[in-house]
Amino acid sequence: MSSFDETEAIYVRELGIDDIAPVYHLGEELFTSDLYPYLYRTWDEWEVIGLYNTDPEYCLVAERDGELAGFVLGTIITKASWTYGYILWLGVSPKFQRRGVADKLVDKVVARMIEDGARFMLVDTDPTNVSALKFFNRKGFGNIRQHIFLSMNLSKHEYYGRLIDYEHQKAERAGYRRSRPAIRARKPDSAANEILLNPLVSESQTTEDQSPI
Ligand SMILES: CC(C)(COP(=O)(O)OP(=O)(O)OC[C@H]1O[C@@H](n2cnc3c(N)ncnc32)[C@H](O)[C@@H]1OP(=O)(O)O)[C@@H](O)C(=O)NCCC(=O)NCCS
Repeated sequence: MSSFDETEAIYVRELGIDDIAPVYHLGEELFTSDLYPYLYRTWDEWEVIGLYNTDPEYCLVAERDGELAGFVLGTIITKASWTYGYILWLGVSPKFQRRGVADKLVDKVVARMIEDGARFMLVDTDPTNVSALKFFNRKGFGNIRQHIFLSMNLSKHEYYGRLIDYEHQKAERAGYRRSRPAIRARKPDSAANEILLNPLVSESQTTEDQSPI
């Protein structure tokens, strides 16, 4: 009986324009708010579009029979004397996990980065992401450094409160103007007509200097 090597059927190639939406949606499935809140917050379509635009050679997808199996998105950082390869995002569809897909993607992107002068690799992930940590450890990544993220709810910020007050006052003023009967100009000229017909024109002119900014 011949043994079929699953990884043989996995094909790795550069990300193309038609892969942008499927890659984004696969990321949405993988980087969820309950599992990895930081990855969830920072993952959006601009990650894919932006890196496809700036670093297409380090954006790879794996597919099997035309079906998206996984992706890797990376970049190169050049400092005065060092060039770093940085893996920003790596994801494998649950259906294709534990079949060596990430292995293939990372091997290929690392080879490209070495060709382009990288002598050091960086990657980061959530500290609770055991599968990724095991995966990267096995690939030779080590020397773990913890990095702490802090956050702040801006709805409690003093400036946010002022902005909301300002918007309320503006809405109230607009309501007051609408409820007043329009005053007819004695000698209607075109400018006076415009103000009568469109009170928002004078509104935006008079409130500009009251902006909270
Ligand atoms: C981490 C991830 C990319 C690994 O992809 P994968 O294609 O399943 O990985 P591979 O099949 O190449 O795994 C190679 C090795 O990594 C380790 N590994 C991978 N997934 C693992 C898991 N769930 N638990 C433990 N070890 C795991 C194993 O050592 C594995 O070798 P083995 O299968 O012979 O034991 C995948 O689980 C994933 O997409 N996770 C969600 C997204 C994510 O966390 N991305 C990384 C941060 S951006």
